[in-house]
Amino acid sequence: MQSLQQKLDARVPQSEIGQVYDEIASVYNLWGTLTETRARNRTLELAEIQDGQQILEVAVGTGLAFYEIVKRNPHGHNFGVDLSKGMLAKAEQRLRTLGQANYTLKAETAFDLQLEDETVDTLVNNYMFDLIPFKDMGRILQEFKRVLKKSGKLILVNMTEGERWGSQIYDWLYDRSPRLMGGCRGVKLSAKLQEHGLVVDVREYHQQMLFPSEVIRAYKP
Ligand SMILES: C[S@@+](CC[C@H](N)C(=O)[O-])C[C@H]1O[C@@H](n2cnc3c(N)ncnc32)[C@H](O)[C@@H]1O
Repeated sequence: MQSLQQKLDARVPQSEIGQVYDEIASVYNLWGTLTETRARNRTLELAEIQDGQQILEVAVGTGLAFYEIVKRNPHGHNFGVDLSKGMLAKAEQRLRTLGQANYTLKAETAFDLQLEDETVDTLVNNYMFDLIPFKDMGRILQEFKRVLKKSGKLILVNMTEGERWGSQIYDWLYDRSPRLMGGCRGVKLSAKLQEHGLVVDVREYHQQMLFPSEVIRAYKP
């Protein structure tokens, strides 16, 4: 399996990701619920959201986590961004059911966030780095560090390399058809975060329907 992992870099260019996710937005919730719910719920626990915070979710998708974030932070500011307008439209639909909630959803890229330096208490980023080429990950981490306040939290979950029986099936599928997997392959991020000056205090492996996820909590020192 090691040789497979070594060649699994991103194969769907970022310039096409918006369109890929516009196309799968209507069916994404089924996938995102069946295989990722446990890991996503764990990120919400680790975020320990305090009402009144400035929270940013990058790659908000259809709002599966953002809905829960906004509910927990009614008096703070909640910003959600994503490349895909189709995914954002689904998120908007979900958030509308909360009524007068305090949030902003915008089409934006993780590479160029439209927020001032050191303004974010907690930055949540779920299942996005598994779409990003290795060579570009550092640029995004620098951007995350720029907007995070000192001691601000970074909460991540991504598809990771399978550690238990059967979990390698998804990388095997990706290797045959990256688009079938929505461009996602298994990655491991702790070392990369540390390399960019973030302090990792939690790294957990979760598996649901054989789908391997890693959940990470890190701080900006
Ligand atoms: C697998 S989905 C995850 C969606 C959501 N975070 C979740 O957990 O359900 C990946 C999302 O990342 C978004 N995305 C990919 N690259 C991005 C980038 N550079 N900036 C912002 N969003 C990006 C895609 O448009 C898509 O909505």
